[in-house]
Amino acid sequence: MSPSVLQTSADHANIMKETQETLYNMQVVRQFTLATIVWGVLGMSMGVFIAAQLVWPALNFDTPWISFGRIRPIHTNLVIFAFGGSALFATSFYVVQRTCKARLPSDFMASLFFWGWQLMLVAIVASYAMGYTTTKEYAEMEWSLSIVLTVLWVIYTWLFFTPIARRKVSHIYVGNWFYGAFIIVTAMVFIINSAAVPVTAMKSYSIYSGATDALIQWWYGHSIVGFILSVGFLGMMYYYVPKQAGRPIYSYRLSIVHFWAIISIYIWAGPHHLHYTALPDWAQSLGMVMSVILLAPSWGGMINGMMTLSGAWHKLRSDPILRFLVVSLAFYGMSTFEGPMMAIKTVNSLSHYTDWTIGHVHAGALGWVAMISIGSLYYMIPRLWNREAMYSTALISLHFWLATAGTVLYIASMWVNGITQGLMWRAINDDGTLSYSFVEALEASHFGYVVRLVGGSLFASGMLLLALNCWLTLKAGKPATAAEAATEVSHA
Ligand code: HEM
Ligand code: HEM
Repeated sequence: MSPSVLQTSADHANIMKETQETLYNMQVVRQFTLATIVWGVLGMSMGVFIAAQLVWPALNFDTPWISFGRIRPIHTNLVIFAFGGSALFATSFYVVQRTCKARLPSDFMASLFFWGWQLMLVAIVASYAMGYTTTKEYAEMEWSLSIVLTVLWVIYTWLFFTPIARRKVSHIYVGNWFYGAFIIVTAMVFIINSAAVPVTAMKSYSIYSGATDALIQWWYGHSIVGFILSVGFLGMMYYYVPKQAGRPIYSYRLSIVHFWAIISIYIWAGPHHLHYTALPDWAQSLGMVMSVILLAPSWGGMINGMMTLSGAWHKLRSDPILRFLVVSLAFYGMSTFEGPMMAIKTVNSLSHYTDWTIGHVHAGALGWVAMISIGSLYYMIPRLWNREAMYSTALISLHFWLATAGTVLYIASMWVNGITQGLMWRAINDDGTLSYSFVEALEASHFGYVVRLVGGSLFASGMLLLALNCWLTLKAGKPATAAEAATEVSHA
């Protein structure tokens, strides 16, 4: 190609990029994309730190603000609300604008939402380090911060739903249904669970008490799993898997059945967190039954995603981004098989309180949530910054193997630990005394904690490769050609 043609092509690409910027607000998508990477590195580093504390407890340094009890909620809140949240905000804004062919209603409000969310996260982390907590898992922020979160969520809801109301295409793409349900249900359960009587700016008492408090808390807790960590990321799956595979979704009809089935069942499963407690027995059994039924819609969605690759399986050989997306679905299938099984009361009597739960959590968190987000980021980054492709495919491939090996080491070690702990705790001698002391079970778990630390470190180092590759793409990546930019603008 002659230099003049190249020049024209570059100009054309720039015009196309400007057109894209006029049609859609991509600035907020770029901001949340970078935030996902930054918070992912930070949140996972906190995970590695507490994993190391469980191997070497002396790493607490007898300092309250870096003790396990304070860093653990910092880890969970950062990975769920900062890393997972940013990934969902970036992708939902990207998907809703493109599939509705409508812009977000206000650039100023989008920017306010982005910066407000970042400030709120910093305030939450600082408050936990200082020891302020409601003690409600995944809702540890005190009432004043919960109000800030709620106001920001109202802005997000308005930003997301307005393009749907103003859409220029008749139907609402299924990915938006999933994102929409995630937004509405999260608001509902968060507000109800956080209802409290304030005493000072940073101290309050829940308005619920006893078993009611526990039930509401786990109705919320499981809905966070169901509507943020599952339904939200399924919205992501429905857009990015077909896009990267270059195939339409396997069955649109199945996706609609999947949607209604999953949202009507998830909300009932919370009591499986409270087996053998003061919660009425019928409520525990209801939670168990609903959890077992949940296997069906979960697998329906997983199969729908997997089968989208029909006729495109060969792409897995050369496309590490697609590998991230497909392996995430495999882990989703695995954790949604394991979850219903753990919800059966007899199984739960062994698994509850043990590392098995931690293994299950991270099969979902690392294998599904983090991997689908990482795959989607790799898809979006070149398109958001008008680059031909990610700077290095080899680095993506290396990242994929670090993430996969890290997840497998993490969950396998926690399975072994969990089952060992469960069996040791329940073993009794002929005279009815316990066969093992708690400390003996802890000693038996030590090697598993070392393996988990190695696995977690591999996963976290993969995030650093993502950060590096993203930086190189922005700095030195080849700009997209006019044809590529034009495809970007014309395609949802
Ligand atoms: C490098 C990666 C990670 C490492 C090393 C790590 C490590 C840990 C550790 C050591 C714990 C405490 C376990 C215990 O109390 O015994 C934990 C808890 C938890 N982590 Fe992670 N984590 C990582 C990534 C993630 C991600 C990406 C998510 C979510 C998207 C996540 C969600 C959670 C949750 C929800 C808990 C609480 C589990 C429960 O209460 O049952 N983690 N993590
Ligand atoms: C069909 C789907 C699922 C069912 C029925 C299910 C069921 C369960 C059960 C029975 C527990 C243990 C409760 C206990 O003994 O305390 C649990 C814990 C947990 N699951 Fe799942 N699970 C499912 C999918 C997932 C997915 C996809 C994730 C995504 C990350 C996930 C995240 C968690 C978390 C974070 C906890 C720990 C909660 C805590 O104790 O802090 N689950 N789940």
